[in-house]
Amino acid sequence: MAQIIVTGANGQLGRSLQVCKQLQDVRYLSHNDLDICDGTAIRQLLNEEKPSWLINCAAYTAVDAAETNTTLAYAINGRAVQTLADSCLESDTHLLHISTDYVFSGEGNRPHTENAVVHPEGVYAKSKRMGEVAVLNSAAGLVLRTSWLYSYYERNFFRTILKKCLEGAPLRVVSDQIGTPTWAGNLARAICQIVSNNQRLTGVYHFSDLGTCSWFDFACYIRKVAGTSNEIIPIHTSEWQATAPRPQFSVLDSAWTRALLHLDAESWLTGVEHCYNSLVQLKEGRYFHEEYK
Ligand SMILES: NC(=O)c1ccc[n+]([C@@H]2O[C@H](COP(=O)([O-])OP(=O)(O)OC[C@H]3O[C@@H](n4cnc5c(N)ncnc54)[C@H](OP(=O)(O)O)[C@@H]3O)[C@@H](O)[C@H]2O)c1
Repeated sequence: MAQIIVTGANGQLGRSLQVCKQLQDVRYLSHNDLDICDGTAIRQLLNEEKPSWLINCAAYTAVDAAETNTTLAYAINGRAVQTLADSCLESDTHLLHISTDYVFSGEGNRPHTENAVVHPEGVYAKSKRMGEVAVLNSAAGLVLRTSWLYSYYERNFFRTILKKCLEGAPLRVVSDQIGTPTWAGNLARAICQIVSNNQRLTGVYHFSDLGTCSWFDFACYIRKVAGTSNEIIPIHTSEWQATAPRPQFSVLDSAWTRALLHLDAESWLTGVEHCYNSLVQLKEGRYFHEEYK
């Protein structure tokens, strides 16, 4: 019987929680182990195990594909979260649900506070908001928003840019969307601290690394830590032709959350350095160029 259950444990945040090792008595469930759309399986699991916490890292995160896979995006990010919230209430389990800076429309240039008005655009953002509303209305737990999440695991901006840099490939990167990259290792540590404190919080909280930048700045800093010199060309959003809309300015103001929950944070630049160094370490000091050939 685990005290803590983590769903979506094979995603980049789930895997970052696993290496964090700060939490005891945790059962990590991948998509294969538990489909969060399977309400019967969720109810059975929670009724049997009655864990204190459920950390939901499962999500449909393909922002552009969500525009066409609408049904699936709403099922995973919206309706399944409602079921998780209802089941958590039944088993007296506290839910920590992860959400996104994309619930903001991106207007203005002031960081968004936890109680700022949301205006999601695009299917991914709207489906994530549906999940937030489910948790907030049920009061089954808290919503923790984060932004521009990356890690040394596959399929994220950091890995894509690093791969291109190591290949020496020229890159075109959007320079007019502003946000805060957040290393999943730092978010995982913050989550561990919240769960360890074991306060039964409800409502919305923000956690991201500190500072602001564009995707272009982010790519240039990855190039810097990787020590390569490939060309990176700044482009406008209109030149990228993504399927889904993205907020122009989605910086989260996390000062209130950090003060209230005594969470440490570091600058996004340090986060990139830590992520890169962890990747190098993971490869046991070997240069990891090989895997990109
Ligand atoms: N990535 C970002 O830039 C970003 C930014 C802000 C907030 N967030 C939020 O942060 C959280 C974690 O994101 P992440 O980047 O770690 O995502 P991720 O790497 O895409 O991981 C999501 C995980 O959820 C699993 N999953 C998908 N459908 C599922 C289902 N029906 N049942 C159980 N598991 C399922 C996936 O498994 P399969 O791959 O096998 O389907 C995957 O392992 C999400 O809530 C996301 O919305 C992400």
